[in-house]
Order: sequence, then structure tokens, then C-alpha cells
Amino acid sequence: MSFDLSVFSNKNIILAVTGGIAAYKSAILVRRLKDYGFNVRVVMTHGAQAFITPLTFQALSGNPVHTELLNPEAEAGMGHIELARWADLVLVAPASCDTIAKFAAGLADDLLSTLYLATKAPVWIAPAMNQQMWAAKATQRNLNTLVEDGVHVIMPDAGSQACGDVGLGRMPEPEDLAEQVKNYFHQAQRALAEKFGLLAGKRVTITAGPTREAIDPVRYISNHSTGKMGFAIAAACYTAGAKVTLIAGPVSLDTPNGVKRINVSSALKMLDESLHQLEEGCDVFIATAAVADYRVAEVAEHKIKKAGDELNIALIKNPDIVATIAQQQKRPFMVGFAAETRNVEEYAAGKLVAKKLDMIACNDVSRADIGFASDQNAMTVFFADQYQMEKRDLEKASKQEIAQQLIEAIHDALNHEIDPV
Ligand code: C5P
Repeated sequence: MSFDLSVFSNKNIILAVTGGIAAYKSAILVRRLKDYGFNVRVVMTHGAQAFITPLTFQALSGNPVHTELLNPEAEAGMGHIELARWADLVLVAPASCDTIAKFAAGLADDLLSTLYLATKAPVWIAPAMNQQMWAAKATQRNLNTLVEDGVHVIMPDAGSQACGDVGLGRMPEPEDLAEQVKNYFHQAQRALAEKFGLLAGKRVTITAGPTREAIDPVRYISNHSTGKMGFAIAAACYTAGAKVTLIAGPVSLDTPNGVKRINVSSALKMLDESLHQLEEGCDVFIATAAVADYRVAEVAEHKIKKAGDELNIALIKNPDIVATIAQQQKRPFMVGFAAETRNVEEYAAGKLVAKKLDMIACNDVSRADIGFASDQNAMTVFFADQYQMEKRDLEKASKQEIAQQLIEAIHDALNHEIDPV
């Protein structure tokens, strides 16, 4: 099972807008929710339409706006019960005093109050009103009732109000509200992934990007690795329910959501951090990093000055990180990568054995359309002999899709009965 924690195209939000000046902020809220990928349908009370038109919300949400309860035409489109069932979350923003009172009393005399009673979805309200109305005993009593009924109340901000007063009652900024909604679904999906995801409960360490081997304080040896594949795998592992640590060489990529990132520069530091992760507990180790094979034997303390026509720098071999980890006693499931320009499968199979890996994914970097800086990749995956699993060809696809297929391969191997040796 896979869960996409970054896009919410399968999640439906009803944004209910009630009568208050903060209704203008709700237009931006629709935009932000759509940016996160949510499907948004807007319900408006009559009061809301005095402040902003349904047409605005129709254009922004890409859906017809729902305003009437007893209108045969509107009910023929998506009736109030259907609408109540469609929602994964009902967000009332701004929530007026009147709507709060209606919800608390259980009235059902318009579309929104009826929807409130008819939905099983969580209901969130973002009250927005004059500070004196917010403080009024009846409002506070109604809010307490709603909290007891399971409604989530988003506290209003304090500050200057449209009416000139200063105090509690401003609707939080739309960006903030949209982020709270996103985080709610993110956490819910993460909880599912931690239970049912392909890598549920697994601790995964991933090395990614190039390493940088210093020559002197201002120069270094490195390579063109962008880290994209490793970062895509880290994101996919998290989505699959794993606890992910990403040991990254110098790359300019954002840390995937939920992933713990440790930045390193040299191969020696990458090895250090990898060994440390092993001590912390690691079930799967995925080595995507393009580790420099050699480092400068003696790093100059000061900038090397120009002199003569030739400069010789002695290099010494770097440790092989993945092979070193594979030799440890508490050995995780080991996944390596092989980028080759010829005899791809033969060399990869050799590395699988030489580095004592459980699985190796290889690709042909002589192909201009895949590998290194490309956003696409194609790979062949081999498993160690004891798994008795057929090799898998992963057809050319985005690095995200390849990452997902690699996780399926890791999952299958982890759950494969292997003959004791
Ligand atoms: O030997 P080669 O560099 O082709 O092996 C590639 C695999 O070994 C990759 O998984 C890479 O991350 C890993 N590797 C490593 N440490 C090195 C060299 C390669 O972990 N020093």
C-alpha cells in the first residue's frame, strides 16, 4: 500500500463561508487549499454573499458554489446530503456568531446548518467577529458546546479589527489555516503509513549526492551527482511509513517532508555518520551517493599557490561506505546502486557479490535521457542469490516512480523467505 503525503488530490474540503468581513480572506484560502492539491467546494450563507460573491469562489475553486437548501435546481446538482458525504473536512471560515449559535442549538434552517448536522466529517470553525461579540457570554457558551460536540475551534488572532476595535476576533491568515488543514491530513496519512505502509516501522538510512574532497581550504574534488534519486527515495520511504535519515553530500535540494537530514561533505564524514546511524538502529541501508573513490592524501593547510607548469596531487583511496556497512555485525538490508557506461548488468552483478549487498539497482549512464542530472531514470534490480528472486526491469519513469518501484522491490525482498546459509 502506498500513501502520497505530499498531494491531497483525493481529499475533499468543504469551505463554508459565513457573513463577516473576513470572508474576503477566504478567497485566498481557497487558492492555498487548491495549491496543496485539495478538492474544494464552497458553501456560502446568505450573510456571506453580502460581502463577497459566489462567482469569486466558483472561479477560484473550479466548482459550483452551494448557497441554497430548498432549491430544486441546486439539489439536483449535489444535494445537501451528498455534499455532507463528499466532505473529508468541513472548514467554516469565517464562522460568524450566528452560525456558531445555530450549530450549538442544532438548527437546520439553511444549507450550512443542515450540512453541519448531516456530515460525518470533522468540522473545524475559524470564528471571526468583533472582540466584544467574541467575549459575549452567549458566544462563549455556544463555543463550549461546540467543543463538547467535537468541533475543532481555531482560535481567532488578536489585533486591530475592521470595525476599529482592538482585541480577539480576527480570522487567522489564510496561509496559516491552509497549512493547518494540510498538516492534519498529513498526520492522518502518516499514521496510516506507519501502520500499513510497505516500510511501516522500518528505520532507513540513505546516502545521497556527491562527496567533496578538499585539496586546500578553497578547492576540492567532486562529481556531478545531484542527489535527486536519493532524495526521491528518501521521500518515498517516508511515504511508505519508514523513519528516514538522509545523509546528504553538498546538493541544492530541499529536505523531503518528515525526513531527518544530516549534511556531510567528505566521504570519511559520510562513513562516520553512516556508522553512527547503524549504532542508532537501521533496518535498511540504501547507498545512492556518488562517493569520491579517492581523496587528497594531504590536504594543504593554506591555499596552494600557482607555480610551475604542472601540479601533482597524490590521491589515496576512500573507504567503500556501503561495503563497510555490509561487513558490520548488526547488518541492515543493504541496497547499492551501480552507474555504468557498458556491460551494465555484468558489472552490477559483480558489485552485488563483492560488496555483499542484498540488492543492487543499476543503470546505464551512457544513455543521455536518464541518470545523473535527468529527472527520469530506468533501472534493473538484482537480488542476492539467497533470495532466489528474479531480476526486475524498471522501465524509464520519473525518479519518484522509480523510487516507488525500488521500495516495492525492497519490501518484497524483506518479506521473502530466504534459505538459511
Ligand atoms: O563501486 P561503485 O562506486 O560503482 O559502487 C556504487 C555503489 O557503492 C553505490 O551504491 C555507492 O553509493 C556505493 N559506494 C560507497 N562508497 C564508496 C563508493 C561507492 O558507498 N566509496
